[in-house]
Amino acid sequence: MSSDLLFSPFQLKSFTLRNRLGVAPMTRMSSPGDSIPRQDVFDFLVRRAENGASIVYTEAIVTDYESSQGYPRQSRMVTQKQIDAWSSVVEDIRDHGGISIMQMFHCGRMAWPEVNPAERSIAPSRIAPKQLNPMTGEAYPLPEEMSQFDIDHVINGFVETAKGAVLAGFDGVEIHGAHGYLINQFLSSYSNQRDDSYGGSVENRFRFAREVIDAVALVMPEDRLLTFRVSNWGIADMEVSLFDSAEDWQQMIGLLVRTPIDAISLSTYNFKDKAFGTDQTMSQLTREVTPLPLMICGQIYDRKSAEEALEFADIALSSKSILLNPNWVSDVRDGKELPLHKSEEAGVAYTDKPLP
Ligand SMILES: Cc1cc2nc3c(=O)[nH]c(=O)nc-3n(C[C@H](O)[C@H](O)[C@H](O)COP(=O)(O)O)c2cc1C
Repeated sequence: MSSDLLFSPFQLKSFTLRNRLGVAPMTRMSSPGDSIPRQDVFDFLVRRAENGASIVYTEAIVTDYESSQGYPRQSRMVTQKQIDAWSSVVEDIRDHGGISIMQMFHCGRMAWPEVNPAERSIAPSRIAPKQLNPMTGEAYPLPEEMSQFDIDHVINGFVETAKGAVLAGFDGVEIHGAHGYLINQFLSSYSNQRDDSYGGSVENRFRFAREVIDAVALVMPEDRLLTFRVSNWGIADMEVSLFDSAEDWQQMIGLLVRTPIDAISLSTYNFKDKAFGTDQTMSQLTREVTPLPLMICGQIYDRKSAEEALEFADIALSSKSILLNPNWVSDVRDGKELPLHKSEEAGVAYTDKPLP
């Protein structure tokens, strides 16, 4: 691959990205009572644009006040005060040449009822994660199976939050369909054992994702982006393959391609890993069945890994490396020797220590 590709522009719908490196979505648990992040967390995002990142994702923003939240101090985008706070961040990111995308999610069975005003935990089926909640050291509660009313209500939460992001001026909105949270719970036969039209076949398990995407697309102006994040791994029960086979995965991506999204963001633990017992990586399997722009994430930490990741994707997102190193983009450009950070090092993201 030409070494210039990493720092060559990429056309994402009407946006010309200045390079192929972006900030992955990162939860910070930094929003106190009003669900607005601390100023230093906003400054961190703006600084990454100032230092060259072409895309800056927000943390995953929770979509409603009832049952979506999984961690303490998460942000929301449904009050004017929240919208106004984010709009100045969006402007600053734009002034520094980056584009901003708000990611939103509902935690489903990984919600933490105590931090949700309605204290509910809801999911496609009554199946709790096997793993303990790392925040409490206790078992996750058995979730309630979502009724049609719950499904429609939750979709509305995604729509309202997207409207907030549009008002705040975000260049795009991402629906978080990855990491074992609610949408991913519907997609996976592991956590979705419904016998109605939302369960069973890949097509049925995809129905909830499609309904969320279609509803959100209706409130997205033509000049904004709509992206979807997906993965085959979840935060809880890491060892479980959420999709049964490469065929199931590719069928699901095939369904995603027929929705009104503008790009797919593929999250992996390590972008180099071969998937589903095949000799292909997740990005190879995904690229094979989609013409959509593809973002890839997972242990991309230096120039070599970023170049390699772009062999089967268009944009490389970094989480831990760009979290801990404000000069990551220029260090990659310079081909500096850079460390592969461990998960524990990212714990600083959740403290009130301002990041560089
Ligand atoms: C502190 C932290 C917070 C994260 N929060 C989110 C999030 O809100 N939404 C999301 O989709 N992924 C989240 N992730 C996952 C990252 O976006 C990324 O997929 C993962 O860390 C692998 O990338 P890396 O190897 O570059 O760190 C988070 C990761 C970290 C380290």
